[in-house]
Amino acid sequence: MSKVYLIGAGPGAADLLTLRAARLLAEQAEIVLADDLVSADVLAMVRPGARVLKVGKRGGRASTPQDFIHRLMVRYARRGKCVVRLKGGDPFVFGRGGEEIDALAHAGIEADVVPGLTAGIAVPAAAGIPVTHRLHTHGVTLVSGTAGEGCEEPNWQALAHTGTTLVIYMGLGRLLNIVARLIAAGMPPDTPAAAIASGTLPGQRQVKGSLAELPARVSAEGLASPAIVVVGQVAALAKEMDCGAWQPALRSLAA
Ligand SMILES: C[S@@+](CC[C@H](N)C(=O)[O-])C[C@H]1O[C@@H](n2cnc3c(N)ncnc32)[C@H](O)[C@@H]1O
Repeated sequence: MSKVYLIGAGPGAADLLTLRAARLLAEQAEIVLADDLVSADVLAMVRPGARVLKVGKRGGRASTPQDFIHRLMVRYARRGKCVVRLKGGDPFVFGRGGEEIDALAHAGIEADVVPGLTAGIAVPAAAGIPVTHRLHTHGVTLVSGTAGEGCEEPNWQALAHTGTTLVIYMGLGRLLNIVARLIAAGMPPDTPAAAIASGTLPGQRQVKGSLAELPARVSAEGLASPAIVVVGQVAALAKEMDCGAWQPALRSLAA
């Protein structure tokens, strides 16, 4: 029986993978169970001959049941395969890595975790936003914008008053609702806010504005998941959207 590696693939760009992750993928992986958010460039680093199974889970789409993923990890490890569970970002940040470690422990299988850069920190950085800044905020709160299976809705009332940067994962689809709750809870409507989609990837897009105007800006620009939303003074530091992202589309329209 061999070990299962839970590897964080980072936010998307392959050169943001850790050296340990790159080495395991290129040299040891035999079975790779990959999430939807793992980019094609990261998958291209997997050892030739390894079997890659997509076990993606994306909000609103058909997805692989978590129990089935547990069973696959256990089955292949028991066959003596070097199993990699490859997850976007960091396995332990909104990645269900904790549940997978428990399932492996329950089955008596050894697991190793290879941390990855979490999107909530790396994606704002790629857009020019430092999630903490001595002059603006003394902390950062990472929160899921979606109440997952069996999880309660985040306490937006309390989150409106932390005084820290709010970094919201999986919040784009409910942005209007989240913004309304934060403002109703007393957060000033002119608090700076930004949304960054497909961060660190070639199609990265971002918008910034006040909290109150962010949902309209996001829909006007057609930003789509995966996206990170940042609320707090540091969001004002976001770079303006790179028009480079539009150029291929403009060129094909002109042709
Ligand atoms: C299920 S969570 C997984 C988070 C992951 N474990 C991490 O540490 O980044 C998926 C969410 O992460 C965010 N995300 C992941 N990759 C992203 C990217 N390249 N750009 C923007 N947001 C991203 C989005 O909010 C997306 O809906």
